[in-house]
Amino acid sequence: MSLLKDTFGRKFPYMRLSITDVCNFKCGYCLPNGYEVNKSDNRKFLHLDEIKRLAKVFSKLSVSKIRLTGGEPTVRKDLPEIIKILKNESGIKKVVITTNGYHLDKKIKMLLDSGLNGINISIDSLDRDTFKKITGHDRLPEILRGIKVLQNLNFNNIKINAVLLNGVNASEKDFDSWGEFIKINKVDFRYIELMQTGNNLEYFKKYHVSSKIFKEYLNKNNWIYQTLVKDAGPSLNYINPEFKGKFGIIAPYSKDFCRSCNRLRITSRGDLRLCLFGNTGISIRHLLQKDDQLEELQDLMLGQMKFKKESHYLELGKTGITNNLSSIGG
Ligand code: GTP
Ligand code: 5AD
Ligand code: SF4
Repeated sequence: MSLLKDTFGRKFPYMRLSITDVCNFKCGYCLPNGYEVNKSDNRKFLHLDEIKRLAKVFSKLSVSKIRLTGGEPTVRKDLPEIIKILKNESGIKKVVITTNGYHLDKKIKMLLDSGLNGINISIDSLDRDTFKKITGHDRLPEILRGIKVLQNLNFNNIKINAVLLNGVNASEKDFDSWGEFIKINKVDFRYIELMQTGNNLEYFKKYHVSSKIFKEYLNKNNWIYQTLVKDAGPSLNYINPEFKGKFGIIAPYSKDFCRSCNRLRITSRGDLRLCLFGNTGISIRHLLQKDDQLEELQDLMLGQMKFKKESHYLELGKTGITNNLSSIGG
């Protein structure tokens, strides 16, 4: 039972915690020029002690799952320690990560040894050149090797994300190649509709396309829609008995997308964000400094819930204070 509830009846058993906004990729929709130091905000990223206190409070508020995000979370050297502390000393049950897959083949063993429960990996295309064009890095092979390592260790909680980009990775041929992949690999593959952010308007106008094209493909090819289970995330999932993996669609521009919202976010510098595209982000960091502040933080969190809005206003082109998803972790 979740204690964090908003005025629209939604519950929040899930926190997304960004641990750095640094990223080592240059995805066209997010950081086309690569990471640039944020000159207007020189606060350091949350350190281990602060993260531990934060997780303890959220656990007391019945949050059971934390997703570590970035930027790219694996650029933090103390990531294994963060996972270990969350798993062993905070009361949080599930610790998962969203990564761009950089050096996945080399890093994955260490992350699993720390107690990681699940991994979401961004792979915008299975075509090596297209992957390189979108991300600025020729790193598809090492990511696919990383997935093999996971499978050899019988680790099954793997999801793959691709941002749907018109004319780039959204043809029937692209859909077929992902179909071939999940036929033999037990992973959930999801297309995400490209979202407008403060900095990507031109890119958005050029490449955004509705996920309807993929939905039509799924219907045509006998994929069966799996009704939303309790606490499900934003992905609409499809199954097919002939395939080991699943297909999914994350469609933030669709009606009612936010009805199933089950997540809150904390940025790498300790700001609470009630919505990915909200207009405010109050800092909670001052309440993470000493062990005896935990109750005060609990009260603050409970009080903040009344400010969560029903939905984003992306369809109106309103992106809030989110300039790119690297600043908040998607
Ligand atoms: P799980 O349900 O834990 O697997 O999380 P997820 O699938 O939402 O996580 P992931 O980090 O893989 O996110 C996939 C994509 O969905 C990213 O592009 C996110 O920005 C987007 N996304 C996730 N949550 C939200 C949300 O609450 N609102 C919007 N608009 N997009 C979201
Ligand atoms: N629209 C949709 N998805 C995005 N991501 C980053 N920026 C955007 C955007 N503007 C995705 C990444 C990753 C996830 C965390 O967010 O590709 O899969
Ligand atoms: Fe939740 Fe905001 Fe995402 Fe909608 S856009 S699902 S309200 S975080």
